[in-house]
Amino acid sequence: MKFFIDTAKLADIKEAKDLGILDGVTTNPSLMAKEGIKGQQSVFDHYVKICELVKGDVSAEVIATDYKGIIAEGKELASLHPGIVVKVPMIKDGVKAIRYLSNQGIRTNCTLVFSAGQAILAGKAGATYVSPFIGRIDDQNWDGITLIAHIAQIYAIHGIQTQVLAASIRSSLHIVRCAEVGAQVVTAPLDAIMGLLKHPLTDIGLEKFLSDHKKVNAK
Ligand code: G3P
Repeated sequence: MKFFIDTAKLADIKEAKDLGILDGVTTNPSLMAKEGIKGQQSVFDHYVKICELVKGDVSAEVIATDYKGIIAEGKELASLHPGIVVKVPMIKDGVKAIRYLSNQGIRTNCTLVFSAGQAILAGKAGATYVSPFIGRIDDQNWDGITLIAHIAQIYAIHGIQTQVLAASIRSSLHIVRCAEVGAQVVTAPLDAIMGLLKHPLTDIGLEKFLSDHKKVNAK
């Protein structure tokens, strides 16, 4: 399973990279705004900074919502760096644009996916990744993990090459559950990734090992 970090914050990206487990980055307009990145040139420059920091796929989202606009913006984003994957919303023009961009050899991430039907369309259109938002589904009292399992099963049955990229991850447990049900990629905030390290028995065990070592080795 690939690990992406879901942020535009360079410090968090560096920290996840330093752990040696980072395969890529996903961003969205809200995450860029959160970092105060505004204006098209600054946004583009920031994508390049992220790409130079991380060897892997970096999702950069289009703002346009019409077919021609998505294609123009998608081409521009893809030209910024070979690591860029163009993130396109799951709307009618988005699906058409994913088909076009995919035919041009431009990699895409179909975002804002909340149903298996939408994931089938993204797969048919040739998306490189499909991003079901599991936390937002849970927020609506539905089950995001079940959706990941359904999509993974459908893609496996039909040999669809699109990779399931579980997004809107809210906890370390979400990451583990996504791994269990067959997501090929998870994108998570830094705290959910770092939370995977934690277990109280690890801390208690280490403390005991070190104190036992100290007892016999004390001068
Ligand atoms: O990158 C898209 C997605 O991960 C958003 O997450 O927490 O805003 O639902 P969230």
